[in-house]
Amino acid sequence: MIYGGRSGEHEVSVASAASIIRHLDRTRFDPVPIRIEKDGRWTLADKPPMSVSAAEVLEHGRLDVARPAKSRRETFLVAHPGDDTLVTVERRDLADPRQADNSAMVTGLGLDVIFPVLHGPYGEDGTVQGLLELANVPYVGAGVLGSAVGMDKAVMKTLFAAAGLPIVPHMVVIRSQWERDAPALTARAAATLTYPVFVKPANLGSSVGISKAKTHEEFAAAMTLALQFDRKIVIEAAVPNAREIECGVLGNDAPEASIPGEIVPSREFYDYEAKYLDEGSTPIIPAPLLESQVRDVQRLSIEAFRAVDGAGMSRVDFLLARDTGAMYVNEVNTIPGFTTISMYPRMWEASGLPYPSLIDRLITLALERHAEKQHLRTSIT
Ligand SMILES: Nc1ncnc2c1ncn2[C@@H]1O[C@H](COP(=O)(O)OP(=O)(O)OP(=O)(O)O)[C@@H](O)[C@H]1O
Ligand SMILES: [Mg+2]
Repeated sequence: MIYGGRSGEHEVSVASAASIIRHLDRTRFDPVPIRIEKDGRWTLADKPPMSVSAAEVLEHGRLDVARPAKSRRETFLVAHPGDDTLVTVERRDLADPRQADNSAMVTGLGLDVIFPVLHGPYGEDGTVQGLLELANVPYVGAGVLGSAVGMDKAVMKTLFAAAGLPIVPHMVVIRSQWERDAPALTARAAATLTYPVFVKPANLGSSVGISKAKTHEEFAAAMTLALQFDRKIVIEAAVPNAREIECGVLGNDAPEASIPGEIVPSREFYDYEAKYLDEGSTPIIPAPLLESQVRDVQRLSIEAFRAVDGAGMSRVDFLLARDTGAMYVNEVNTIPGFTTISMYPRMWEASGLPYPSLIDRLITLALERHAEKQHLRTSIT
């Protein structure tokens, strides 16, 4: 299990990993916790993560910084097929470099399957998946392409539109355009999308860097914030009085959709605080929808999953306009949250698939996809 990561969703990932480990069938699986630190180094954790809520992880994070590091087992994924998937270098007593001796113990470890429990860039975006492809090790979830387009909201919307899926009106702006002519872009956003609009970093999650803007001033502030996280920004018309509907997808070539759920955010919109910190948001499973709406959500979820070349799992989010009943596909998350408040495992639980069996299925799907790939030729001779 790889968790943590060099992204704004590091803490959410640690909580997701802790929750998965807690529900893992230990008679079948022996978890090896691989932690990606915030600075990007991979370490073989002394013990698996315990805190299953992002708020707790944030608190512990603050404490962690104060505590001196014991010996750290830095680990490296071997980027070619072979017996050893991981090579670990254990140096002694890093706390005081003057005392550190240079001896290091190097060990290799073969892994049967990897569960990347990483959210956001440098983990959910195809980068880690690329490394796992090079290592030729089975892994849970979407491949390189599905992860990359599942992460990039701008490309994802292009694929949704090409697949004829209902999406909200939007525009995409990159940093150099904004720096060249912010007033013209502000005027265009206000004219074509009309306020309020949502401003989002194209490649991120957990609502990090997302704002709702109702005026030119708020729009400029929203762009400044989003550009701190990405060079590409997606600006969307706000769905008025929106309901937040979510649906789980599970499978490879024959994906299934779960019973849809609904989130009633505790704040104006489902921002980071409403998701992970104030615990006031209310999940409703099953979502109170008409039978025809349930069928639409499930059908559109599978179409969205296929449009991004999904594999294994995804959570598809929808925005439902309360007044008109218009349903929009908002986005696909290829590595959904698995924290205590997360909808993905809960929606499958409500669909008759308990959490431990869900993990089993995800690992089986990973092994199936890998086995199929072993039949492909990698040489012309
Ligand atoms: N066009 C929109 N109209 C109304 N509300 C919106 C719109 N876009 C986003 N939101 C609000 O912002 C929240 C976060 O947006 P979105 O799901 O796109 O971001 P995210 O960072 O990928 O979130 P996550 O991956 O955690 O689901 C939504 O759950 C919703 O509350
Ligand atoms: Mg997302």
